[in-house]
This record gives sequence, structure tokens and C-alpha cells, in this order.
Amino acid sequence: MIEKGSDSMGNRLEGRLAAVTGAASGNGRAIAEKMLAEGARLAAIDLNAEALDSVFGDRPDVLTVEANVTDEDSLKAGFGRIRDEFGHLDALVNNAGIAKFGTFEDLSRAEWDQVFAVNSTGPFLVSREAYPLLKAGNGDHTRSIVNITSVEAHIVISSSGHPQIHYNASKGALLQLTRALSVEGAQAGVRVNAVAPGFIETPFTAESLKDPKARDWMLERTPMGRIGKPEDVANGVAFLSSDEASWITGTTLFIDGGWTVY
Ligand SMILES: NC(=O)c1ccc[n+]([C@@H]2O[C@H](COP(=O)([O-])OP(=O)(O)OC[C@H]3O[C@@H](n4cnc5c(N)ncnc54)[C@H](O)[C@@H]3O)[C@@H](O)[C@H]2O)c1
Repeated sequence: MIEKGSDSMGNRLEGRLAAVTGAASGNGRAIAEKMLAEGARLAAIDLNAEALDSVFGDRPDVLTVEANVTDEDSLKAGFGRIRDEFGHLDALVNNAGIAKFGTFEDLSRAEWDQVFAVNSTGPFLVSREAYPLLKAGNGDHTRSIVNITSVEAHIVISSSGHPQIHYNASKGALLQLTRALSVEGAQAGVRVNAVAPGFIETPFTAESLKDPKARDWMLERTPMGRIGKPEDVANGVAFLSSDEASWITGTTLFIDGGWTVY
């Protein structure tokens, strides 16, 4: 947890209005806390209302928004509230995502659709709702979308013993959504980038990391010799959302301890 006044705190997002999906847990929570520590006001979006309330319930600088990124009606209602409260947005982070494991031959259509709905279609629907609010930003600074993809949009970690073809494919789609939207976004002053995390210790990876063999394998496979922390991801997202990244669009920042170097 990043506290105001800590070494990790700056003011790069002072006065900015940000929205983060999947903000109640793991990477999304760390991103939300980092953006607040950098001075932003925040719309914290998640389908888990209880978790949102327990994490952000007593923060006056946070608007909690219960919404499902796969559901257009719930997003329209949620972004209606954000528009009424904030008027515009400076930064959007599409972080909500799910992973499922299984071999190709056992993969059902329903599970494929579910993974694509959250990881690929969700960021499209959320960005479409947020886009007019981002375009309405006041013009003094750059506005941006950051999509949380994964190293698995670029490589396939099949040797981990956890095949996830639908996850790989859905994150690959999000990577190309990022690149394609960055071209149109450039005309509107909206930068669009991706952050590709490697293994980060969150509830999402808790099960795989419980297996000592899998943990050792990941540590050996990571040049920097440690598993990532949600704060590692949050630091990269804050940078890409700030004016320090004002000429950066359509690219991916890998935050993986060197995993993808090999
Ligand atoms: N943890 C890792 O090692 C890792 C690595 C690479 C990429 N990522 C990506 O980071 C993102 C966050 O992962 P995490 O590890 O923090 O996961 P997590 O499971 O800890 O948190 C995900 C959050 O998203 C919310 N969410 C899930 N589906 C949603 C939906 N349909 N609508 C709204 N909210 C929804 C959940 O309620 C939860 O709060 C994901 O996109 C994931 O693919 C994670």
C-alpha cells in the first residue's frame, strides 16, 4: 500500500480525474492507490461492490462504481455517474481481467467467450464509454488510456504447466486494440498504451504460486530473481498516465523483471 508522504508519492497526477477497472484487488488496487498518491481523484470500478466498499469506502477522493465491464447497461449507468461527478476524465486504466486454465481440446466455447468478454470486449466497451469524457479533458495536459495486457500477449508460457490459449489470444487482441486505437486517439489528444506485466503476486496468481515447484521455476526464469509486486505495475501505469509520457502512444511497457528478454 502506497501512503501519502511515502518515497513513492509524487504529484504527477495532481488535479487529474482517473478511472480504473478491477480496482478492488491486486494490480487494480495498487494502480488506484498509486494514482491517488500522485494526486488524482478516482473512479474505482469493479463488479465486487463489497470489496470496493471495504477498500475505498471511507475515502472522499474516490467514487466507487459497481459495474461489470462486459455489461453495456451497467457501464452506461456507471459512466453516467462518473460524468455527473467529474465532468471529464484525464486517465482510464483498463485493468479488470480474468484467467482460466485448460488444454485446447478441453476448452469450451463458453469459457472462450467468457475470457474474451472480460479481457478484450470489456476494455473496448469501457473505452467507448470513457472516450467522450477523455476528449472533454481541459487540454492543459495529455489524456490517456492504459490497457493492462500481459507478457502472455507476446509469448506463450506453456512450460509452466498451465495452458491458457484463450487468455493468450484475448490479451493479444487487447494489444492490437491498444495499437489501433492509439492512431485514432492521437487525433483526439488521447494517448493509448499497454502495460504487460509478468508474474505478479496477486489473488489472480495465488493458486499457481502456492506450488513451490512452479514458484521456483518462475524465479529461475526471471532474470531479476523475484516475483513482481502490484506496486511495480502501478508505478509504470502512473508514468504512462502522466505528462512525463506525453509523446508516448501505441506502445507497451513490459514490467516483468526481464522475463521476455530470453
Ligand atoms: N497477476 C499477474 O501475474 C498478472 C500478470 C499479467 C497480467 N495481469 C493482468 O492484470 C489484471 C489484474 O489482475 P490481478 O492479478 O490484479 O487480478 P485479481 O483477480 O486480483 O483482480 C481482478 C479484479 O478485477 C475485477 N473484475 C473481474 N472481472 C470483472 C468484470 N467483468 N467487471 C469488473 N471487474 C471485474 C475483480 O472483481 C477483481 O477485483 C488482469 O487484466 C490480468 O490479466 C496479471
